[in-house]
Amino acid sequence: MQEILVRSGTESLVFEESPRDVKEKELKERLLEALVANKYHSSKLQDLQIENARLKSMPLFIASVVEKQNENIVMLRMHGSEREFLTRVGDKVYEALDLNTRVAVNNAFNIVKVLSRSADPRAVAMQLIEAPETDYDMIGGLDPQIQEIKEAMELPFTEPELFRRIGIKPQRGILLYGPPGTGKTMIARAVAHRTNATFIKLSGPELVHKYLGEGARLVREIFQIAQEKAPAIVFIDEIDAVGSTRMQGNDGSEEVNRTMMQLLAELDGFKDRGEVRVIAATNRIDMLDPALLRPGRFDRKIEIPLPEKEGRRAIFVVHTQHMPLEDVDLEMLASITEGASGADINAIATEAGMFAIRRKGEKVTMSDFQKALEKFVQKKSGMEFCMFA
Ligand SMILES: Nc1ncnc2c1ncn2[C@@H]1O[C@H](COP(=O)(O)OP(=O)(O)O)[C@@H](O)[C@H]1O
Ligand SMILES: [Mg+2]
Repeated sequence: MQEILVRSGTESLVFEESPRDVKEKELKERLLEALVANKYHSSKLQDLQIENARLKSMPLFIASVVEKQNENIVMLRMHGSEREFLTRVGDKVYEALDLNTRVAVNNAFNIVKVLSRSADPRAVAMQLIEAPETDYDMIGGLDPQIQEIKEAMELPFTEPELFRRIGIKPQRGILLYGPPGTGKTMIARAVAHRTNATFIKLSGPELVHKYLGEGARLVREIFQIAQEKAPAIVFIDEIDAVGSTRMQGNDGSEEVNRTMMQLLAELDGFKDRGEVRVIAATNRIDMLDPALLRPGRFDRKIEIPLPEKEGRRAIFVVHTQHMPLEDVDLEMLASITEGASGADINAIATEAGMFAIRRKGEKVTMSDFQKALEKFVQKKSGMEFCMFA
């Protein structure tokens, strides 16, 4: 039982509180405490999350553990140099480290990430071998380009005697280039779909970011796998990520350069290889290292441009083929969407469909397309579409 003293003037009164009140008060206090603690911890958590994101976003280096010492100290050796250094790590990370474990460290030599043993190229390649459900008839326009690619990619596989008879060697590498969203990746997928060759896809940005520190090795081993599984096509999407004009003094560029050098070595090694062909795609041919474009490497370059009016119409047809349309004039849509890419047209058709769905319509109408276009033009200001010009 607890007593509370209340003074008022000269008198003092003594109240007695029931045990229940005390209990309740106590609980309330504890609740308050818990709330305060919660607030404190959540703000702390938020700080840590921000810090964490910051650490992760800094350029990272790859190092291997050379020695585990006491008190959570490990000695690391930086890849690509003989520099060694000591760093202290948390308990959990310390446990996870063994000799030769590979880690990513930041500028301050803190371990940011413990890397997997090493990405097994076979496991990676397995994920990369695919036969996607994209076919040439899903690509609007681009007939001459597709023809050229078929010739370069399929004929040598399907009719090798033809080449032998005429006495020419098929070109090994083709580069698709042009603005984003024009169908480059689609074309490569269609090639994969049509060919019986093993198709291995590599993505430039993934090589640089996902398989941190392993780009060069992965490139080498993937080409080995391609050769074992020949006939094979290696598709390198967004090759500019590895093959940009080499950036100088930029952290992490060493690693990218090594990947690139390996790629060049593989391209040059072709002569003695079986039936391995390479397709690469880029939105930024202007950024591409000229070394890649030298004879014997990607010597067949095929531009995939923004579609002309006829191409846009064909792309509208592709992307509306499963839509119930009512009085939609695709011809007219094609003529007012100058400058739109295939991806833009896909977005417009999808948006028009959404307008129809929102009003619970049975069919997609021209007015749905008008609204979709307006919305699209707003998003992409700078592009001038003129309705009903
Ligand atoms: N020529 C085209 N015909 C039909 N759809 C296209 C065409 N070009 C682009 N698209 C649409 O845009 C999307 C992105 O195209 P993609 O091939 O990835 O472009 P990129 O040239 O940037 O590789 C495709 O999934 C497709 O829906
Ligand atoms: Mg692409």
